[in-house]
Amino acid sequence: MPELSVAVIAGDADQRTMLQVLVEGTHSARIGLMSSSFPMTVADPSFQKLQTIQPDVVLIDIPADGGTTALRSIELLHQEMPDAVIIAIGNLSQPQMIVNSMRAGAREFLERPVTTSNLLEAFVRLSAKKRKVTREERRGKVFTVVNAKGGSGATTIAVNLALALQAAHGHTALVDLAPLGHTSLHMNLKPLFTVADAIRNLHRLDHSLLEGYMTRHSNGLQVLAGPANPVPIEPSTSEFARLFDMLVGHYRYVVVDASTRIDAATRVVCNLSETVMLVAHSDVASLWSAARVHEFLSETGSRDRVQLVLNRFRKIAGFSDLDAEAAAGSKLLWKVPNHYFAVSSAIDRGVPLMHQSHTEIARCFIDLATRLTENDRDVKREAWSLFKTV
Ligand SMILES: Nc1ncnc2c1ncn2[C@@H]1O[C@H](COP(=O)(O)OP(=O)(O)OP(=O)(O)O)[C@@H](O)[C@H]1O
Ligand SMILES: [Mg+2]
Repeated sequence: MPELSVAVIAGDADQRTMLQVLVEGTHSARIGLMSSSFPMTVADPSFQKLQTIQPDVVLIDIPADGGTTALRSIELLHQEMPDAVIIAIGNLSQPQMIVNSMRAGAREFLERPVTTSNLLEAFVRLSAKKRKVTREERRGKVFTVVNAKGGSGATTIAVNLALALQAAHGHTALVDLAPLGHTSLHMNLKPLFTVADAIRNLHRLDHSLLEGYMTRHSNGLQVLAGPANPVPIEPSTSEFARLFDMLVGHYRYVVVDASTRIDAATRVVCNLSETVMLVAHSDVASLWSAARVHEFLSETGSRDRVQLVLNRFRKIAGFSDLDAEAAAGSKLLWKVPNHYFAVSSAIDRGVPLMHQSHTEIARCFIDLATRLTENDRDVKREAWSLFKTV
């Protein structure tokens, strides 16, 4: 059974039905209550029903013609049911209404018409916040690598980071979400299955089936390969969210190569990530693109997680790290040196740089893995799940 329980409060019957369909379409929540009346006091039957079901989320539809009652309901629920997260739905052309609903206690404001992916992204954000309060089981961390611009080096970085994490900690998976999967080529693997197989079988996916879809590299890294041909029909964002929920339940670290895939699925995966590495070069076009990609990924809440990785780095007189950060609008996390011969021959031979040890560039990935996991030994990881089953 899905984890989040959602109450929908909307005066308009069509809007209520539509919200019900959208919530169910996320596959991450179930409807606990549908109500046409906005509770005004604790004595209202609609309030008492809400108290009985104790929803995780209350979706409140603010009617276009005057939202005073909806706002009073938000205030009441915020005060009396502080554990419920209130999401207001309304018109973005009424900025005062957005301000008032947030002041009244709404955690989020979604624009009408809402889509399933809007809701799913909001639920993912809530789930990420829940991580901070729930502490039971251990869940893995996701590190996503995404390109500012094609060919910036996302796959090289994802492959070598994943190998370094596996060598240091074990239990690491590399997931290839790129439009065409290159990770297997970089490691000379011949995958029998891809992400598409795991998604197609989500309904029966358990940890052993998941392992069955992985291709093993000789250092123990498990790879969920990407498509060998362009895919005409993409899985939905909720399917990706479910797959990742399974992955973090099974692996300690999950590295994602998104490469040039900049879409809603990547955005959901970025929201689930501990750190998103945005790979760029130190030139104007690349940093300009990095700023645009950062904006896109941040629209749904990944802003602080997205950090810049400068690949093929060379010192340029008069151009500092601060200049790169300002141009890309992101904090600089790492710099990978420019070693064209070593990198391109590693790819051509299918023998990753990490296996050509003692080189400066291999050291650079080992140090990046150390940096990303530096607090993990002391900090007990916190539990989170979008899709808990009973
Ligand atoms: N640190 C580096 N130094 C020199 N050359 C590099 C470096 N990193 C990557 N390259 C070169 O850049 C090219 C692209 O690398 P890679 O396939 O990792 O990029 P990508 O961003 O994943 O590309 P795509 O957009 O196709 O997904 C490769 O030919 C590789 O040789
Ligand atoms: Mg790539």
